[in-house]
Amino acid sequence: MPIALNKKTRLQALGLPSDVEMIRRARAFALRAGLTYSELADLAGINVNSFRVWIAGNYDRHHSCDSNTLIVRAAIKAAIDRHEIESQPAAPVNHHPTAEYEAVRRSMLAALRKGTAFLVDGPPGTQKTYTFRRVAAEIEASRQGRAVYVYARVDHAPQAFLTEACTEAGIPNRGTIDQLLRKLRFFLGGQRALLIVDEAQHLGLNGLEVLRQLLDTPPYFGVVLGGSHDLSMRLRDWRMEQWRSRLRRSHMLMGLSAAEAGRILSAELGAMHPSDVAQTVADATVEAVRNKKTFRYISARNLFFAIEDARAAMEEARPPANEKVEAIA
Ligand SMILES: Nc1ncnc2c1ncn2[C@@H]1O[C@H](COP(=O)(O)OP(=O)(O)O)[C@@H](O)[C@H]1O
Ligand SMILES: [Mg+2]
Repeated sequence: MPIALNKKTRLQALGLPSDVEMIRRARAFALRAGLTYSELADLAGINVNSFRVWIAGNYDRHHSCDSNTLIVRAAIKAAIDRHEIESQPAAPVNHHPTAEYEAVRRSMLAALRKGTAFLVDGPPGTQKTYTFRRVAAEIEASRQGRAVYVYARVDHAPQAFLTEACTEAGIPNRGTIDQLLRKLRFFLGGQRALLIVDEAQHLGLNGLEVLRQLLDTPPYFGVVLGGSHDLSMRLRDWRMEQWRSRLRRSHMLMGLSAAEAGRILSAELGAMHPSDVAQTVADATVEAVRNKKTFRYISARNLFFAIEDARAAMEEARPPANEKVEAIA
């Protein structure tokens, strides 16, 4: 699957999950959603044969370079993220209070009240989307103001991005960039408004510039930018000085603490042997790179995967209910 070099360089910089991570996530997603691999490939808009080779973990054998899987990973991640965001979870999710959730929540409420901006820099699985969506729902329900969540796609053009923001806000969504900005101000300006941009590393300089206009002119929207480390890097560009001067705070997420992970495991699965807890937490620990330094963190996503796996294993171990019925009959 040839990719133009500049696109490849851009994708490389997006901090995508590794192949191992992404394959695991794609398999779990296909299973949960009942999708065949060809349906999942279709959903992501990629060639089904390339997808099959990739998900079997054989991509490297057929292609010279690991970076060739970037486009597959980016497409699959975008497709899964979108569906996880759009579809309500089948079973209600138990909320687990964590320090990073609380810290980002406080900043979101402050940004809403004061019309300020802040940044959330976190590798995959560090509760970004979860926190954004949950606190947005809390804001909307409490009538403290409006919270508009937008997921930025790879190379999202500013106009398409604003169209999506209007759609999310439930207001008319056609027109030029200026008209869309005016609509957002007009319809949302009567109350406090917070614009939450998830995966904001996908926005180019122009997209970020358009956003800044919402921050800089009345009615002064609050803005949250969340994404991978590439977002922080992008804001270091000299042309981003205006943005930097407006950021009140940057949250550098480090994942769950070991104590939080332990509490989540026991709340979800009941009492466990300490060595099983330690093993599960170790399995949920992954690596990311920030400022050229590698660090390890406990991924909330991987921990919840492990919980699902453990539940499935317990289900399998249990004798099926109908066998019992037959025995009684
Ligand atoms: N505090 C929490 N309580 C319950 N579930 C959580 C919590 N934080 C994260 N999750 C779950 O963990 C998974 C990964 O989190 P997510 O927000 O998607 O990570 P990110 O957006 O940083 O990649 C999601 O499925 C989410 O539902
Ligand atoms: Mg996310």
